[in-house]
Amino acid sequence: MGGDFDYYDPAAGDTGEREVSARPVRADGDFDAGLRPRSLADFIGQPRVCEQLELVLHGAKGRGSTPDHILLSGPPGLGKTSLAMIIAAEMGAAIRVTSGPALERAGDLAAMLSNLVEGDVLFIDEIHRIARPAEEMLYLAMEDFRVDVVVGKGPGATSIPLDVAPFTLVGATTRSGSLTGPLRDRFGFTAHMEFYDTDELVHVIRRSAGILGIDLRDDAATEIAGRSRGTPRIANRLLRRVRDYAEVRGDGTVTVGIAQAALAVYDVDKLGFDRLDRAVLDALIRAFGGGPVGVSTLAVAVGEEPATVEEVCEPFLVRAGMIARTPRGRVATAAAWHHLGLVPPAGALNATFGARPRDIGGGLFDDP
Ligand SMILES: Nc1ncnc2c1ncn2[C@@H]1O[C@H](COP(=O)(O)OP(=O)(O)O)[C@@H](O)[C@H]1O
Ligand SMILES: [Mg+2]
Repeated sequence: MGGDFDYYDPAAGDTGEREVSARPVRADGDFDAGLRPRSLADFIGQPRVCEQLELVLHGAKGRGSTPDHILLSGPPGLGKTSLAMIIAAEMGAAIRVTSGPALERAGDLAAMLSNLVEGDVLFIDEIHRIARPAEEMLYLAMEDFRVDVVVGKGPGATSIPLDVAPFTLVGATTRSGSLTGPLRDRFGFTAHMEFYDTDELVHVIRRSAGILGIDLRDDAATEIAGRSRGTPRIANRLLRRVRDYAEVRGDGTVTVGIAQAALAVYDVDKLGFDRLDRAVLDALIRAFGGGPVGVSTLAVAVGEEPATVEEVCEPFLVRAGMIARTPRGRVATAAAWHHLGLVPPAGALNATFGARPRDIGGGLFDDP
């Protein structure tokens, strides 16, 4: 036995929640564990992904085989880990959980693969961060359910083939673009997770309030949803902060006034941007005149890891129509200048780049 993995048994009521991520996205997982949806029916939003997944899973079930390998791609907090757990639960299978950074040596992966039981789901979070030798071993395992374990070193080294029980690999990634071609090609199905719209987030928040026993008014749910950056994890986090406020400063009921006051305390603005989002916009506009500027320069300017800016902040800022990615770097749109209360220079980009204004709200996109 080696490697860093856990065994998860949904039948025994195990939530499967493990801290497996080496990312700075940290403790959210722990306190969200009780709020995870447990079945596809319970999973809110992502209708396309859910429909596709249902077909993949039920198709395999009907044939009595293990489903194809599945890649889940999208920004943090959209439900990738939850879906991985759901895939196992829907198949009545157990799930083993690890992460790309934990698979430093091929031996770690070999140990894990050889311990799989037929039908198991192997979940590799942050799969784009897997080390090269482990990745190469994974190719063969995914394709032929086989691994070659190299024993010894130098000219005397021999490679011993080992069978692996048919399993389903579920990989999650915040940057599918950094996956190598051969790895990407070995997934039979890729689910692209999208940001959630306000109605879906209202649904998420109502569900969580029910589980947590929070007395939540409808307009308060809408207010929190509108500031959740299209992300269920953030919606749940804001709900908890608002609940604290309601209990300490009020009688526990979450009204829209309480929600607004609480969110002001936590520096979450009307569009859901937090400190880091605003710092990025601020640097882009005030330090670099609106760009174009490279993402690593931008990260240095706000004192963050480039990966955090690129994977956590940027997708939502792009989606919100604040930032555009151009071949020469990141550029602030006119909306971003307005958001900071500044007048955009002539020729500032007006594009909303994939934004769905109705989801983000607030008349921002009415600018000529
Ligand atoms: N579709 C959904 N419906 C309800 N809650 C969700 C949904 N997606 C995510 N969540 C909530 O958000 C939290 C974070 O989701 P998670 O699966 O850990 O995201 P990711 O792995 O993509 O970062 C979950 O614990 C759950 O409470
Ligand atoms: Mg996750």
